[in-house]
Amino acid sequence: MTDKVDIAGMRKAYKGEGEVFDIGQLTSKEPYANFGEWFKEACNTPSIHEANAMSLATATKDGCPSVRIVLLKGFDSRGFMFFTNYTSKKAQDITENPRVSLCFNWDVLNRVVRIEGTAEKLSEEESTAYFQSRPKSSQIGACVSHQSKVIPSRQVLDDRNKSLQEKFSSVEMLPKPDYWGGYLIRPHRVEFWQGQTNRIHDRICFRRPAEGEVIDPLVTHHGDDGWVIERLSP
Ligand SMILES: Cc1cc2nc3c(=O)[nH]c(=O)nc-3n(C[C@H](O)[C@H](O)[C@H](O)COP(=O)(O)O)c2cc1C
Repeated sequence: MTDKVDIAGMRKAYKGEGEVFDIGQLTSKEPYANFGEWFKEACNTPSIHEANAMSLATATKDGCPSVRIVLLKGFDSRGFMFFTNYTSKKAQDITENPRVSLCFNWDVLNRVVRIEGTAEKLSEEESTAYFQSRPKSSQIGACVSHQSKVIPSRQVLDDRNKSLQEKFSSVEMLPKPDYWGGYLIRPHRVEFWQGQTNRIHDRICFRRPAEGEVIDPLVTHHGDDGWVIERLSP
């Protein structure tokens, strides 16, 4: 029995109270260029260890949610990409229910990007090109692990790693396994959250309007490429 750990008072005193963080980089009227700007800043912030680490939420067809960290490996005007094992829990969820959500938390910048969209497999060509660009140890790693499966011990993995290292000792590149590849998340909603020291945070949302939706010009603004832009209350 664990006694309740009281962390109700746990609260960060923000430095520079009253300072207003700049969200002026949100100059583009579509989300990808804005994401690119924020991502570049996150990558250039030394205290952010892995700017491309993001939470990926999936759900079963019954709506049972599951979230884990994956690495963003590319983005373009189609959407956001990551790679994984197609027999993993996340991939099973996506097969049943392609609706997913991503969340980046760049806390030293007081920034979050939150994305909702649908996942689809990347082409075999794109997956193979990425797989073979990885270091050999990572290629072997992908083959070692039948991700998300129950195994009897760590020994199973170490043995498989050793036997694959021997098997492929004379080649630089392994063939990509069929069960490994990428996903493209096509977003229908991308929110940029900029925390402010006075707790009156900024939230700017790009979304795809519903078919036939009547836009209220007082609060909803037309962006580029069919996106609409709104400010949300924090
Ligand atoms: C920083 C970090 C990056 C990760 N990147 C990936 C990734 O790109 N792809 C992946 O399949 N798992 C990645 N993982 C492992 C996943 O978090 C997770 O354990 C694994 O994918 C199995 O998830 P699942 O059982 O829900 O499918 C990463 C974990 C961490 C902590």
